[in-house]
Amino acid sequence: MRLLLATASQRQAWRDAFARAMPGAELRVWPDAPPAVDYAIVWKPPPECFERVRVERAIVNLGAGVDALLAVPTLPAGVPILRLTDAGMAEQMAEYVTLAVLAAFREQREYARQQNERLWRPRRRLDKSAFRVGLLGVGVLGAAVAQALRPFGFPLAGWSRGAREVPGVAAYAGPEGFHAMLAATSVLVCMLPLTPMTRGLLGAAALRRLPRGAHLVNVARGELVVEADLLAALDDGHLACATLDVFAEEPLPPGHPFWHHPRIVLTPHVSAATLIDESAAQVAARIAAHARGERVGGVVDRERGY
Ligand code: NAP
Ligand code: GLV
Repeated sequence: MRLLLATASQRQAWRDAFARAMPGAELRVWPDAPPAVDYAIVWKPPPECFERVRVERAIVNLGAGVDALLAVPTLPAGVPILRLTDAGMAEQMAEYVTLAVLAAFREQREYARQQNERLWRPRRRLDKSAFRVGLLGVGVLGAAVAQALRPFGFPLAGWSRGAREVPGVAAYAGPEGFHAMLAATSVLVCMLPLTPMTRGLLGAAALRRLPRGAHLVNVARGELVVEADLLAALDDGHLACATLDVFAEEPLPPGHPFWHHPRIVLTPHVSAATLIDESAAQVAARIAAHARGERVGGVVDRERGY
C-alpha cells in the first residue's frame, strides 16, 4: 500500500502515528513526492501536491470539514474523498456546546457583570421550557451535542437538509423550517459544513429572525456567519452574546473587532481538535476496508460539498 501524507502542521507526529497504525504501508511524507500513491492522507494540502502525485484510490481528509480540500484548485476529479467522522471530536464538541448553552441559561455573563460591580442581585430563574436550543446541522457532531444536552431538559430542535430524525430533537428542514426554527430559538448552535449553500447563511435576515436576547454559538466555520451583520446584531442588543470558535480569517487578526467585544466569547478553533492517534486509527481501518472493496463511512459527496 503506497501512502502520501501531506499535513499543514505536526508532520512528525502524524508520520509517527501512521507508522504505528499502518506498519506495512509504504509511507511518504510531503514534500517527498512519489509519482503515484494509492491513498493521499491530507489536511490543507498545497495545490502542487496533486500536480506532482497521482492518487489512484482515494484522498482522505484529516478533519471533519472538507471545505478547504474541495477548494484546492488541483484536486483531481473522480477520486473518492473520505473524511474523519467523530474520531474523538464528538465528545469534545458536546463539552464545548454544553458549556456555552449552560452559561447562557444560567446567565453567567450577567452575574459576572454584577460581580464586577459588587452587586448582590439574584435573578429570576429562566423558564427552561421556553429556552429552546436550535441545532443547525444534526450530523455526526450535531447528534452528539443533542444527546449531551438532552439530560438537561432543554427543548431541542435540529435543522438539516433531510429533516434528519434524532431522538428528542424536533426536526426541521428547508428554508421554511429554517425560519420557523430560528423564531423560537434561545441558543442557536451552528454545526453545518461550509458549502455553497451554507456560506453566509447567518446574515442579518437570519440573525434578526432570532428572538431578542438570543445567543449564537458557532463551532462550524467562520464564513457561515456574516461578521458585520453579527456585530450589528450584538451592538444594538438584538443578540445577547455570541460564542465563536471559528472565524472567516484564522488566526483572528489582532485588530479584529471581535477580540474586545463585550458580548463575544471567543476561542481559537479548539472546540473539537483533531486527535492524532484516534484519527490515524480510524483512517487506517477505513483504508484497509476501502482497499478490500468494502463500503466505508465518511464518504464525501462532492456535489453537496460535505
Ligand atoms: P456531518 O455529519 O456531515 O453533518 C452535517 C449536518 O449539516 C447534517 O445534518 C446535514 O444535513 C446538515 N447540512 C448540510 N448542508 C445543509 C444545508 N444546506 N441545509 C441544511 N442542513 C445542512 O458533519 P459533522 O461531522 O457533524 O461536522 C460538521 C461541521 O463541523 C464540519 O463540516 C466542520 O466544518 C465543523 N467542525 C468544526 C470543528 C471545530 O473544531 N470547530 C471540528 C470538527 C468539525 P443531513 O443530515 O440532511 O445530511
Ligand atoms: C476541524 O475544524 C475539522 O473540520 O475537523
